[in-house]
Amino acid sequence: MTDVLDQQVFRYSNEQVPELLCEDVPLSTIAEEYGTPLYVYSKRQIIDNFRSFDETLKTSGKEHYVSYAVKANSNIEILRILAQEGSGADVVSAGELLVALAAGFSPEKITFDGTGKTDAEIELALRAGIHAFNVESLEELTVISEIATKLGVKAKVSIRVNPNVDAKSHPYISTGLKENKFGIDMGESREAFIYAASLPSIEVVGIHAHIGSQITSLDPFIKAARSMVKFVNQLRVKSGILLEHLNFGGGQGIHYRNVVRHPQLPPDELGEEGEYVPSLSEFVGAVLPILDQTGLKIIFEPGRAIVANSCALLARVLYTKSNSLKNFVITDTGMTELIRPCLYDAYHQIAPLQLQAAAPSQKVDIVGPICETSDFLAQGREMTPLKRGDRMAVLCAGAYGYTLASNYNLRPRAAEVLVDGNSYRLIRERESIEVVAGLVDNALVTSLLAEK
Ligand code: LLP
Repeated sequence: MTDVLDQQVFRYSNEQVPELLCEDVPLSTIAEEYGTPLYVYSKRQIIDNFRSFDETLKTSGKEHYVSYAVKANSNIEILRILAQEGSGADVVSAGELLVALAAGFSPEKITFDGTGKTDAEIELALRAGIHAFNVESLEELTVISEIATKLGVKAKVSIRVNPNVDAKSHPYISTGLKENKFGIDMGESREAFIYAASLPSIEVVGIHAHIGSQITSLDPFIKAARSMVKFVNQLRVKSGILLEHLNFGGGQGIHYRNVVRHPQLPPDELGEEGEYVPSLSEFVGAVLPILDQTGLKIIFEPGRAIVANSCALLARVLYTKSNSLKNFVITDTGMTELIRPCLYDAYHQIAPLQLQAAAPSQKVDIVGPICETSDFLAQGREMTPLKRGDRMAVLCAGAYGYTLASNYNLRPRAAEVLVDGNSYRLIRERESIEVVAGLVDNALVTSLLAEK
């Protein structure tokens, strides 16, 4: 069984001019047909990732389910693949709930998360018959109970606790510390459970925690698991509250470096083994035996680990320029399609779609066309020479790529393509400028665009 962290679907062909492939299709063929920027996904990688997560848990013999965090990627075609695999869905908005239902996720396997659920969203989720809300405050408990009473139903809830654990990830994607807005302090959680149990239309079924994202050490997970287990046992003994499940959230880190390898690619600055990420089996082996001490059904909510490495964001070089300090490669994609480098200082490997014969590499900043200094994909990156018209792939763009994309600078969102073996198809069209700019019936715009 392949580990989620093993990359194989993006690789170079053995031709004289090696071509970067997604499964069996050269990415340059897809870029030629649909233009750039373009998100290209591998169906096989998504299925492999889900199955290895699911199988790794199954081999442990414990009752569990995987509830894919839809916020990582909410394209309906990708959701359909995961729904067919039997995944659950973790949603955070009416939009995510509706697309998950439309994609075929069973409502009994949908959890609704988030610090600020609106009344309309709560009502929608109750009418859809979801499995449970992950509740973040006492006030939210009251509101859910009131809305459930009005609808004449019982709302199942898990309470999200904040275990005050440092995930040691980027501060913007760490959620399990006291100063973060998420969950209810462990110290006050017992009262929250007792309060929830006292409400007329609430059934308390679980406990939830999610301590952060792109976590690359086991220690924070182990600490959170221990503290949850202690809490659940005390809740049973001292308050007589019995739960059905423990939801441990997501957050498993993935490899962003050395995803694609080839002798002609300049070596990664951290070297071959410069990025340590625990394997899934290590993660499961470390936390499941602890969580299992509760005897509860366990839910995991991975997002990134299921979709990140399934996608390459394709770009084209528009211009190159140098000054006395730096070399810039200006591409047609940037922070509007992938905000992660700018927002979290995140590293994404960038690989040319065609590898020209060994040429000395050069340190470059790979930037986008957007009018912000923060609009970069890589800084000080060693790359083989790139010139106008060359195409490249920004790897591991499948999680928090499209879902965090924006129309800043009035740029239409890019198209998405799904590869399956040696075939591929469009799974979302490129947005049109007329629609994005609200110019659909504008005669001047229509005539200008018709002249193309
Ligand atoms: N469960 C909850 C309650 C969450 O808030 C999240 C992510 C997940 C599960 C899934 O976490 P994952 O397995 O994907 O790490 N935009 C950031 C990541 C933000 C994550 C937000 N919550 C990034 O691009 O790194």
